[in-house]
Amino acid sequence: MLNTLTLLVTLTLMTLWLVRRTIAQPLSRLVTGVRALGRGELAYRIVEDPSETELAELAREFNSMASSLEATGARLMREGEERLELERRLRESEKMAAIGKLAAGVAHEIAAPLNVISGRAEMVLKRQPEPPERDRNLRIIVEQIGRITTIVKNLLDFARRRQPDLHRIDVCAVLDGVIEFLDTELERAGVTLTRDERRPAWVRGDPDLLHQVFANLILNAVQAMEAVDGERRLAVRVRPGDSGGEWTTIEVRDTGPGIPESVRGHLFDPFVTTKPNGTGLGLAVARGIVEEHAGRLEASPAETAHGSVFRLVLPAADVTEAARG
Ligand SMILES: Nc1ncnc2c1ncn2[C@@H]1O[C@H](COP(=O)(O)OP(=O)(O)OP(=O)(O)O)[C@@H](O)[C@H]1O
Ligand SMILES: [Mg+2]
Repeated sequence: MLNTLTLLVTLTLMTLWLVRRTIAQPLSRLVTGVRALGRGELAYRIVEDPSETELAELAREFNSMASSLEATGARLMREGEERLELERRLRESEKMAAIGKLAAGVAHEIAAPLNVISGRAEMVLKRQPEPPERDRNLRIIVEQIGRITTIVKNLLDFARRRQPDLHRIDVCAVLDGVIEFLDTELERAGVTLTRDERRPAWVRGDPDLLHQVFANLILNAVQAMEAVDGERRLAVRVRPGDSGGEWTTIEVRDTGPGIPESVRGHLFDPFVTTKPNGTGLGLAVARGIVEEHAGRLEASPAETAHGSVFRLVLPAADVTEAARG
């Protein structure tokens, strides 16, 4: 009886040991492997058992799946890096093309005043004219140097634009500052200003850079209206919370002759100008600044019959701030 009992206990213990060795341990190794894969450790492999059991087969299958996962992961990573590199090269070549275009524009813009300067300087040197004639030539030289200085200054503004320092600001307060800054120009040109705005109009913006944008738009409007004899009216309209509160729209409308046909469609490109002393950089700088504010600046061609309308759309501050938490 005792012997039978001992035999039974021994058999049970041996069965348990066998179950543990052939089922529980391989299963636990499999679970550890699955967990490691789950953590992204794609190089993890289970120690394989050379036997022909189903669990040993499962472990081999697991390892081969892990190998193909690892290879796929590496391939995806490589492809991602290649795509990034391709995009970087594309951006670089676009930038080089833009710089080339800009350099050609600069050369063209500066060539005319340089010709005048060298022509006049040569004339003064050769003929040694008397004071009135000499002074007239020297004045022309100084004027043309001034023109080159303006081109270079505006170009630097365009090229070395700093990143906007964004704050929650009332765009109407920025407009107050610009209008005060330009009041002599407005008065001298006999321009009547009307303002229609819902105050305050909060946007996320850089007040100094937005000042530059509004000053460019208003100066353009004043210069355009100088060409008309009739009423010269500048209307500024601010609408906070357009499109479900996400955008603030600012409109600058004038009663000038409208955008000249010859520059429509490329108004915002650098060096596009119809003015004898213009550099054609004002709107290019303005659009660049607005885009860095994640906004839009456009002229409304449909409404140019009675002057021009420039519309600026900026992200409203409250929404942006809520989205940022
Ligand atoms: N309000 C407007 N009405 C009519 N035409 C405009 C108006 N604003 C801009 N334009 C046209 O767009 C052109 C480009 O304007 P932009 O401000 O870029 O350069 P610019 O005014 O000619 O030169 P700068 O700004 O360097 O003095 C102008 O020369 C003008 O023909
Ligand atoms: Mg201008």
